Amino acid sequence: MDTQPSQVIAVFGATGKQGGSVVDALLSRGARVRALVRDPGSDRARALVRRGVELARIDIGDPVSLSVALQRVGAFFFMTTPEGHTLSEVEAETRQGVALVDAVVSAAVPNVVFSSVGGAERDSGVPHFESKRRVEEHLEKSGLHATLVRPVAFMDNFASPGPTVDNGEVVLRWPLPDGVPLQLVAVRDIGRISALFLLGTARAPGGAVEIAGDERTGSQIAAAFGEHTGLPARYEALPLDVLGDDTDARAMFRWFAQPPAYQADINAVKRIEPGTWDLPAWLRSGGWAPPTPTR
Ligand SMILES: NC(=O)c1ccc[n+]([C@@H]2O[C@H](COP(=O)([O-])OP(=O)(O)OC[C@H]3O[C@@H](n4cnc5c(N)ncnc54)[C@H](OP(=O)(O)O)[C@@H]3O)[C@@H](O)[C@H]2O)c1
Repeated sequence: MDTQPSQVIAVFGATGKQGGSVVDALLSRGARVRALVRDPGSDRARALVRRGVELARIDIGDPVSLSVALQRVGAFFFMTTPEGHTLSEVEAETRQGVALVDAVVSAAVPNVVFSSVGGAERDSGVPHFESKRRVEEHLEKSGLHATLVRPVAFMDNFASPGPTVDNGEVVLRWPLPDGVPLQLVAVRDIGRISALFLLGTARAPGGAVEIAGDERTGSQIAAAFGEHTGLPARYEALPLDVLGDDTDARAMFRWFAQPPAYQADINAVKRIEPGTWDLPAWLRSGGWAPPTPTR
């Protein structure tokens, strides 16, 4: 479904990472963008205005504010996010997504992209994946023309806290056993791929696509950082206990440790967006700056 150039494309989460990358991609293609924000006075919202984005103030608990913000838009991007790490805060994510889907129905938006998470549909047992699956199900039942984008782990997670440089050696420490491949995606590419679906210039077979640009074990991730800096590098697998009582994060890292966890078809993703970054490309873009060495 092609979105006409005159039509506005609405974006939820535009002041955040994923929504921000969607805005970047849409503006670079000359699209008109409306950001649905809870605080139009925030620095990030005002920065969007300076780039030509219009703002619509919304309150996720006020359905009228949502459907008014979505009036006469040609397409809508949204992601959802847990309010925190407790299980009830994770469940709030589903309420957020359901409220947005209901508003899309009420405003009769013709084309919707929801960024969920890789594996949401595979009974992962990870609370903040299951909460997204409930949103996907609500969207599927709505009968809307929708595309599910399912991103894997963000390369941008390594921006901070990323690897350290200890005694001239790059060290990546993560609660994942070494030797287990994990798929990675640059947030930039979530935006670029979602923009293609929003504009109607690409389609996802079956209406859903899991997206990744690279797949590496812990040692291979560390090696990419080492090659980038010209320093030796090593990976140190940490026990799950470093996650403390965060049952949600523990469930996710347990899921990561039992491959195949994420299952994007990277070649298929590159057929949609040939410029999709692998980890070295993300590093070359300046995604990570080496911290001041500890010694
Ligand atoms: N990190 C990963 O590896 C990874 C991988 C796959 C999926 N994910 C998923 O990605 C999601 C986070 O996405 P992100 O990184 O783009 O998040 P983010 O950078 O934290 O941005 C969150 C955005 O949502 C907005 N927002 C949150 N609650 C809102 C509310 N009640 N009303 C209006 N706006 C609200 C925020 O607005 P304000 O500026 O007003 O706060 C902000 O724009 C999580 O669900 C996570 O599970 C993460």
